[in-house]
Amino acid sequence: MDEKTIQIFEQSLRRCDANPEFLDIFYDRFLASSPKVKERFAKTDFHRQKRLLRASFYLILLASEDPDGGPERYLGHLATRHSTKDLDVGAELYDLWLDSLLESVKECDPEYTEEVEHAWEAMMGVGIDFLLSRYHHS
Ligand code: HEM
Repeated sequence: MDEKTIQIFEQSLRRCDANPEFLDIFYDRFLASSPKVKERFAKTDFHRQKRLLRASFYLILLASEDPDGGPERYLGHLATRHSTKDLDVGAELYDLWLDSLLESVKECDPEYTEEVEHAWEAMMGVGIDFLLSRYHHS
């Protein structure tokens, strides 16, 4: 990933995180996007879940900066957890995940631009592509 994209993403993430509602807004939106999503999170401890999601943004950042060591090192556990071997979250739900996140960033980042949107899309693409590549054979 190019440095500029990483920098735009990181700065936007910081602005979003300054809003304590950011990840609540995201999970409210994502859960409302499909009954299937809501079902998957029926027993979730969202305090823990939000901490883990925040941490995974930084793991994706590390993976995108280290194309050789690669996503496996940073995202291997997350891929196995979401795959058919474990949660089997539903590969078709990744579009809803990304759409919900982009809408939430738009709402929470006061300096949101199209460039910011593209940076989030590119960065999250690293995570999503890896999780999907490991979906059936983790
Ligand atoms: C790149 C996209 C995604 C990221 C970065 C992400 C991140 C995470 C993280 C960090 C966890 C906690 C893992 C752990 O317990 O060790 C998690 C759990 C989970 N994720 Fe995702 N996720 C993504 C996509 C999705 C999608 C598309 C779904 C579809 C519904 C989903 C459903 C779940 C569920 C059901 C859990 C378990 C919640 C629980 O423990 O109750 N995730 N996710």
